[in-house]
Amino acid sequence: MNILIVGTGYVGTTTGVIFCEMGHRVTGLDLDDSKIQALQNGKLYFYEPGVEVLLTKHIQAQNIIFTKNTEKAIQENDVIFICVGTPKGTDGKADLTFVRNVAESIGQYMNTYKVIVTKSTVPVGTAELVTGWIASKQAGQIPFDVVSNPEFLREGSALQDALHPDRIIIGTESETAKSVMKELYQNFRCPIIETKAKVSEMIKYAANSFLAMKISFINELARVCDQLEINVNDVSKGIGLDHRIGPQFLRAGMGYGGSCFPKDVNALIQTAKENGHPLTILENVVKVNDEQPLFFIEKIKRYLDGELKNKTIAVLGLSFKADTDDTRESPSLKLIEKLAKEKAVIKAHDPVVKLDASQCRTVEETIAGADAVIICTDWEQYKQLDWKSLKPLMKAPLIFDGRNMLDPDEMKKLGFKYGGIGHF
Ligand SMILES: NC(=O)c1ccc[n+]([C@@H]2O[C@H](COP(=O)([O-])OP(=O)(O)OC[C@H]3O[C@@H](n4cnc5c(N)ncnc54)[C@H](O)[C@@H]3O)[C@@H](O)[C@H]2O)c1
Repeated sequence: MNILIVGTGYVGTTTGVIFCEMGHRVTGLDLDDSKIQALQNGKLYFYEPGVEVLLTKHIQAQNIIFTKNTEKAIQENDVIFICVGTPKGTDGKADLTFVRNVAESIGQYMNTYKVIVTKSTVPVGTAELVTGWIASKQAGQIPFDVVSNPEFLREGSALQDALHPDRIIIGTESETAKSVMKELYQNFRCPIIETKAKVSEMIKYAANSFLAMKISFINELARVCDQLEINVNDVSKGIGLDHRIGPQFLRAGMGYGGSCFPKDVNALIQTAKENGHPLTILENVVKVNDEQPLFFIEKIKRYLDGELKNKTIAVLGLSFKADTDDTRESPSLKLIEKLAKEKAVIKAHDPVVKLDASQCRTVEETIAGADAVIICTDWEQYKQLDWKSLKPLMKAPLIFDGRNMLDPDEMKKLGFKYGGIGHF
């Protein structure tokens, strides 16, 4: 099948190479010249383990091409996946401008029957809107169907997630579109849920909101554990082994970030409000998450005689989680902003994110002369550091582990003062 992917970002590019793996021919379309040029040359312009290898493989095999030619791309493909961004709008709702632009282009240029698939995360009712936007730009009456097919991949493990999804949701009432989608996904080994578009759209928001809720639950619980001198990691383990709860998303830390959870939880809150049933539980999930970096800063201050001014703080990790270069809504950046307000001297490091020239290149350079080290991102590299040999570089042996990734007893044995989240 000939597939067009509109929007070659984290989701679009990964989806494109995955469909090539499944034997389809793919065209990637983006408005951004530099992205298209990089991808055409087999270069992944963002960090996502494993994707570049498949990209190169399928470019060489001529299974995937990249273009900026919207008209040609739409006319030459049967199935069109919309994978553009749906950022948080000023009102907290999802901003559908990019989706609308794509839908209108499809209406303008389509020449034969098309299946248009929304993979971007969009609010309940968007499939209907997309249908209207396409129809409004059509000169004649060429038939088409719109399908909701949300994406559940996680940055950092996008390839594995997209190759082996837990389930595939196909939201449409059109039998023709359903059979096209099932053919497209025939080589995937997971349950396929066929449902209405609005159910499919809600499933995506409910899934992300539930996971965010688990994170905020354990983060808030960690504050009580701190007070009671209970290691929250032990509590996570104890409850996570219960199959009804599950161990994932129960590691206390500095809060969730990234391009999905923050905006998606807010968008669902707005949908609920507009429909007269506020989701108060999610409103508190957001509140806890917003407070979490501040809660951690207060704890750090207590160790530093209540004062951050002129203290040299080494920040390890800038991305919102390990194995990605995505810094959107990163808790690390929120923490840095707060440290800057308190007039701390900040030195920062990340294995892949490069924000500006003043950033340190090595961990050693970052922590040299530091009054304290704060681990903000759970990069495996930080876990593997030889802390014993790093200790003499620091002004004071003080470590704050915002990801609870180091062993507190081990660190204390090495002579560090160690503070995690929900540790003591
Ligand atoms: N990133 C994730 O982990 C993830 C996971 C699941 C779902 N999603 C959802 O998938 C969607 C895409 O997310 P992303 O992280 O890949 O976004 P992204 O910002 O990385 O990529 C979006 C791309 O769309 C392009 N674009 C915008 N308008 C366009 C147009 N009119 N024509 C062609 N290209 C256009 C942009 O240039 C950009 O390259 C969002 O709705 C997001 O919520 C993201």
